[in-house]
Amino acid sequence: MFNAEQLASIRNDFPGLKSEIDGRPILYLDSAATSLKPQAMIDATVEYYGGVSSNVHRGKSYAIELVSNKFERARYRTAELISCSGNEIVFVRNTTDAINMVASGLDLTKDDTVLICADSHHSHQLPWMARATTEIVNLLPDGGLDLDDYRKKIKNNPKVVAITHCSNVTGVYNPLSEMAKLAKENGAIVVVDAAQSIPHKKVNVLELDIDFLTFSPHKMLGPTGLGVLYGKKDMLEKLTPNSFGGGMVDWVELDNYRLRKLPHRLEAGTPHIAGVLGLGASIDYLNSIGLDNVEAHDKHLGSKMLKLAQERDYLKVIHPDPTAERSAVLSFWVPTAPKLDDTARVLSDTYGIMCRNGHLCAQPYIDQIAGAHVMRISAYLYNNESEIERFFSALDEINSFMF
Ligand SMILES: Cc1ncc(COP(=O)(O)O)c(C=O)c1O
Repeated sequence: MFNAEQLASIRNDFPGLKSEIDGRPILYLDSAATSLKPQAMIDATVEYYGGVSSNVHRGKSYAIELVSNKFERARYRTAELISCSGNEIVFVRNTTDAINMVASGLDLTKDDTVLICADSHHSHQLPWMARATTEIVNLLPDGGLDLDDYRKKIKNNPKVVAITHCSNVTGVYNPLSEMAKLAKENGAIVVVDAAQSIPHKKVNVLELDIDFLTFSPHKMLGPTGLGVLYGKKDMLEKLTPNSFGGGMVDWVELDNYRLRKLPHRLEAGTPHIAGVLGLGASIDYLNSIGLDNVEAHDKHLGSKMLKLAQERDYLKVIHPDPTAERSAVLSFWVPTAPKLDDTARVLSDTYGIMCRNGHLCAQPYIDQIAGAHVMRISAYLYNNESEIERFFSALDEINSFMF
């Protein structure tokens, strides 16, 4: 966990934290949706747009080479972050786009089965539901994933297994290494949604037996409009591109074309250049703080959230298991207030607290466990304990007149 001095220095790097609502400082507890951005990341994108903002990999001008080199250096920093090769990193639009790219690139049909988990975000359900036959790994009554059910269903030899590393609802980590190993023993292609884990902890894809993994830079201090798809080289090569055009071919004739080598064959059209440069800066920033330190800070705030939530009998936490490995994310529902829209509005407009309510893009999960709207708070490296306390005091006041 960061000490007061370290935290003050980190907070100073985030201009968004200086925002106010009606003279009240903003309390940002919605980082699982998208994180705030450090000045260094903002500067990297402004530097690109404010300079000779050339395209990449097109032509031989000095400006193009300069920008292309910076762009590829950012790709290598992304590869280093998760311990893979540069040509195993494909830049896409977001996590959703990456999963769709894999699902369509594998040319699945309704004869193929994909094992999906009931704790998934819609982005790791719908791309599979739309193209294949899905089987679901069930939940335990408290909201955790039923791993015995996983162990049983994996034996049905699904073609693909869709695993979420860390839940966007509970912040609880699934045992990825064990789940991936079992999937591989049963011959499945393993696709990991790591949108909520890569920003918060060191993940080494070389140590995991997985085929694809994806995350969204906007949740890790980077820009919106950019996603990262990691794929083992031979698996990326098997994907049928779902987008064709400039930049992804070596040679085109009127009746024929030759695709470029990886990763370019999967990156048709002008990429999000400023976004990739911003991602490079956000990775540098996280490395300068240390991902292990970020993870420890998260854990501390996550257990503080759980403790304070459990002291309140007017709310119910999803997956409250205190022994589970968890990040700084917590969702709860209020049995006497099935819709929390008004609560979220009051938290925002009266207390300056930004958090998330609704189904959190995990409607089957929320419907099954809570049967009502939930509220989610999610913190990151720039949040402190007193902000978590401020949230629960505000909720207590609201409870006294609204619930
Ligand atoms: C676990 C998880 N998967 C997928 C996504 C989708 O990310 P994006 O909207 O960047 O595609 C999110 C976003 O909230 C998420 O939390």
